[in-house]
Amino acid sequence: MQKPVNGFSKLSKTEKIDWLLDTYFEDSETAKALISQYWNDDTSLQQLHDEFIENTISNFYLPLGIAPNFLINKELYAIPMAIEESSVVAAASKAAKFWLDRGGFKAEVLSTQKIGQVHFTYEGNPDELKAFIDTIKPRFFDDSASITKNMEKRGGGILDIELRDKTKELKHYYQLHATFDTLDAMGANFINSCLEQFAETLKQEAKNHLERDLTIVMSILSNYVPECIVKAEVSCSIDLLKEKDIPKPKVFAEKFKQAVTIAEVEPYRAVTHNKGIMNGIDAVVLATGNDFRAVEAGIHAYASKSGQYSSLTHCSIENGVFKFWIEIPLALGTVGGLTKLHPLVKFSLQLLKNPTAKSLMKIVAVAGLAQNFAALKSLTTTGIQQGHMKMHLMNILNQHEATPLEKNKLLEYFKTNTVSHSEVVSKLKSLRN
Ligand code: MEV
Repeated sequence: MQKPVNGFSKLSKTEKIDWLLDTYFEDSETAKALISQYWNDDTSLQQLHDEFIENTISNFYLPLGIAPNFLINKELYAIPMAIEESSVVAAASKAAKFWLDRGGFKAEVLSTQKIGQVHFTYEGNPDELKAFIDTIKPRFFDDSASITKNMEKRGGGILDIELRDKTKELKHYYQLHATFDTLDAMGANFINSCLEQFAETLKQEAKNHLERDLTIVMSILSNYVPECIVKAEVSCSIDLLKEKDIPKPKVFAEKFKQAVTIAEVEPYRAVTHNKGIMNGIDAVVLATGNDFRAVEAGIHAYASKSGQYSSLTHCSIENGVFKFWIEIPLALGTVGGLTKLHPLVKFSLQLLKNPTAKSLMKIVAVAGLAQNFAALKSLTTTGIQQGHMKMHLMNILNQHEATPLEKNKLLEYFKTNTVSHSEVVSKLKSLRN
C-alpha cells in the first residue's frame, strides 16, 4: 500500500525524481531515461523552465510549426503554431495560400474591455447598500491608485465599478462588477490585485457605515469577455473560388454555407466545428505564451450566448459574393506573463513583428477562421481523412520504428495510395521481408 508523501515541494529536484521512480515505476532506470532525455544541457535554460511551475521533473515538448503566407489587412505574416495534431499546420498553410490569391484576410478589433468581480453577500436593505456603494465609489479608485498608477500612465486602468443585485438568482448575493482596459497586458494580475483591494475597501467601509454584516465571498477576474471582441473575414466573388478541388465554385459555396448553417443550428456539429477553430486558435495562443485555458473557456461561453451552443463562424452568399467570418472574444497579452521569459514565446512574438495585444487578437482570429475554412473545404469536398491520414503517415511509421530508407519508400508509395494504419503496417512488413 503506497503512502502519501509529505513536504514533496520542499524536496530537491533529484529527491523528487528518486521518490517518483521508487514509488511508481518497476523499471526505474528506463523511466529515468525517458524524463532525463528532455532535460536541457543549458542549465540556466533548464532552471528557467524548472521555475515556471512547482515540482518540475522534465520538459514536455510540443512541435512549434510555422504557417506562412497569411495576408492580414494587407500585411504578410508567418504564424507560429505550437500543436501536436499532425494536419493542423498543413491545413492552416493551405488556407493561407488559398486566400493569399483572393485578397487575404481582413480583421478588426471591435472592443477591448475586460471584466472582474467582487462577489459578496449582504443581508440588509438593498437600497441602503446601493446608496452606500454610490457614496464610497471614489474610495475604490483612490485606494487602488498605487496598483493602477502605471497602467493609467499608459492609458488604461479601471473603466467603471458598479453594484449588481443578484438576489433574484441567489439569496443575499451581490457583485461589484468592474470593467478594465489592460492595453497590451492580458491583465489577470492587474485585475485581480485591483479586485482584492476593492474587496478590502468594501469590507472596511461596510464595518463603519452599514448596519448589517457584509461578507466578501471572493474576488476574481472573469474569463468571459464578451466586450473584448475581434472579427476576421474573407470574401471574394464566387467565381474566384474555383481551383483544383473546387471545379464548380457555386456548388461549393452553397455546400460550404450549408455546412456552416448546420453548425449554427446543431450543437453536436457545432462542438466539432468549433474544435477545429480552436486547433488554430490554441496553437497560436500557446506559441505566444498566452493562457489557452482562459481563451477556451471564454470562447465556448460566447458560443453559447444565445442559450444554445452554436458556431463561431458564419457564412453568407449575396450578389455573387462569398463571405466567411468569425467573431470571438479574446483576452490576450503581448507584455507580461511568459512573453519576456520563454525563449520560444519571445521568438514567436518577434516573428509576428512584436504585435500589440490588438494585433495579436486579429492574428489569432484569422488563424481560427483559416483552420475552419480548411476543415470545411475538405469536409465538403474530398473528406478529411485523405489529408489527415497523409499527415498521420509519419506518426505510424515512427510508431513502427521505420528507418529513413523505409520512410522514403513508403512516403513515395502512399503519394498515390490510400493511407490506413493496417495498410502502412502491411507495406512495412513486406518491405522488411
Ligand atoms: C479535427 O481536429 C478537426 C475537425 O474535426 C474540425 C471539423 O470537423 O470541422 C476536422
